[in-house]
Amino acid sequence: MTTQKARQIWALGGGKGGIGKSMVVGGMGIHIAQLGKKVILADTDLGGANLHTCLGLPLPKVTLDDFIKRRVEKLEDVVCETNCDNLGLISGAQEFLAAANPKHAQKIRLLKKLQSLDIDYLILDLGSGTSFNILDFFLISDNGIIMMVPEPTSVENTYRFLKGAFYRRLRRVTIYREIRELIELALDQKNIRGIKTPRDLVEEIERMDKKLGRILSEEAFKFRPKLIINQVRMDKDIELGFSVKNICSQYLGIQLDYLGYIYYDDCVWQSVRKKKHPILEYPDSKASVGIKMVANNLLQNQQFRL
Ligand SMILES: Nc1ncnc2c1ncn2[C@@H]1O[C@H](COP(=O)(O)OP(=O)(O)OP(=O)(O)O)[C@@H](O)[C@H]1O
Ligand SMILES: [Mg+2]
Repeated sequence: MTTQKARQIWALGGGKGGIGKSMVVGGMGIHIAQLGKKVILADTDLGGANLHTCLGLPLPKVTLDDFIKRRVEKLEDVVCETNCDNLGLISGAQEFLAAANPKHAQKIRLLKKLQSLDIDYLILDLGSGTSFNILDFFLISDNGIIMMVPEPTSVENTYRFLKGAFYRRLRRVTIYREIRELIELALDQKNIRGIKTPRDLVEEIERMDKKLGRILSEEAFKFRPKLIINQVRMDKDIELGFSVKNICSQYLGIQLDYLGYIYYDDCVWQSVRKKKHPILEYPDSKASVGIKMVANNLLQNQQFRL
């Protein structure tokens, strides 16, 4: 049997926990499913999975854990129905100790199966942090999205996440030991070569080997992560997205697309308490409007503009 590739994979992550990633993944999924597209949400937050709760569902009987541990053969068998037409859920692993750190072969098997699901959109909830598992899922996706809240710690985590993802991507495209070692070195902020940013790294490689430097800088240009700001309270918070975008381009050499922002909204926690998703419970609330805006920008492959 031939399997058709999922048309698009989106993956949402962020350096910081508890900032609204699962809530937004759920909201984007519901919105796109309501537009008539076939969507599956997958909770790849191995160990901290709670996307089902964001969708107002009880803990599903089968989870990714069952697939990783081969208790079920097909990934399709762990897709659960939700309260929305066209929207399925693959719940994350609960028995986290073993599964949170799947072996490389298990991860590859999972990635391949996720890529071959016959649907329009697969949206991954990556959870927080910058572990290799998270970065790998972020990098295999067609749209790697990073979420930030307007707080200094979250901004700092965003830069750390982007740098980590960038270095891991470059590491994957080079087979040269010297270059790989240089990338490892660059991960240490106080490295002896004085490489502080991805831009410094690419320049250093260009000095060592012009041709390879050019290949890597082209790779760097192709890396276009997306940014969403959640829990916005004032205009300055909205503008922060543009500042982060500019800093990424000028100092890090990373081209970031700013998708838009979502207001801090009491409707969110009110619906969370009722175990309903805000986009269904309060579709016209400021938060729901924001979620639809960022999802539509992604669908139309465009950025947010003032
Ligand atoms: N725009 C918002 N307005 C108000 N509250 C919000 C908003 N976004 C998120 N929250 C609050 O933050 C809480 C955490 O959201 P969520 O579980 O989606 O975060 P997360 O980033 O997925 O967390 P984790 O890193 O633990 O997976 C929600 O229960 C909700 O109360
Ligand atoms: Mg979450």
